[in-house]
Amino acid sequence: MSVYAIIGGTGLTQLEGLNIRQALPMNTPYGAPSADILVGDYAGREVLFLARHGHPHRLAPHKVNYRANLWALKQAGAQSILAVNAVGGIHTDMGTGHFCVPHQLIDYTSGREHTFFADDLEHVTHIDFSFPYSEPLREKLIGALAAEGCAYSSYGVYGATQGPRLETAAEIVRLERDGCDIVGMTGMPEAALARELELEYACLALVVNPAAGKTTAVITMAEIEQAIVDGMDKVKATLARVLTS
Ligand code: HPA
Repeated sequence: MSVYAIIGGTGLTQLEGLNIRQALPMNTPYGAPSADILVGDYAGREVLFLARHGHPHRLAPHKVNYRANLWALKQAGAQSILAVNAVGGIHTDMGTGHFCVPHQLIDYTSGREHTFFADDLEHVTHIDFSFPYSEPLREKLIGALAAEGCAYSSYGVYGATQGPRLETAAEIVRLERDGCDIVGMTGMPEAALARELELEYACLALVVNPAAGKTTAVITMAEIEQAIVDGMDKVKATLARVLTS
């Protein structure tokens, strides 16, 4: 059976219900991960958990050491990664509270350490990234969302932006023209680094606000935080179902 790891995003810096047996303070050739890797039982199954932004939340999306996080998870034995991400909704289907299990992504980030193949130029490896997410893992997430009665889309294109500011309305128009359905700041380089390490990886995205220009109202942190609180029980139930499926 595959060893699962959950990477918790904003609003999921700890996994309530995780019966923690060990907290591993890891170090890697790339530095320290965002937090200790927690090893424990969740829904009766052993799982690893890492808070992407640290616990408590302290790292902005562009400050996360994605390489250390993925490396440490692999070292700790992870084989399949369930990444939880809060996102803005671009497509009309992607209203606040909606879930999306993206099948594609477009990377608009810049200046992030985005590869393990940077230093040893004799062995540069060009990974196939045509399909950035693991299809079997996506199917498990989709099955779990359906079983939980959540509103979800089983396809979507994730636009990964640099942040930490939200986008301009014109940037969202451009992303939409490019084919993006949702927008977030942490989807990359995480997904590519997982592929470089040959880890199965899929994303459970929760829409927490309409993307810039998709609402006439100002997008507030209070609104985003409330949507995260409202959606978290479903996120946890979905993850539990995947682990036990
Ligand atoms: N844009 C980018 N990242 C996000 C958003 C958004 O609107 N909402 C949550 N994360």
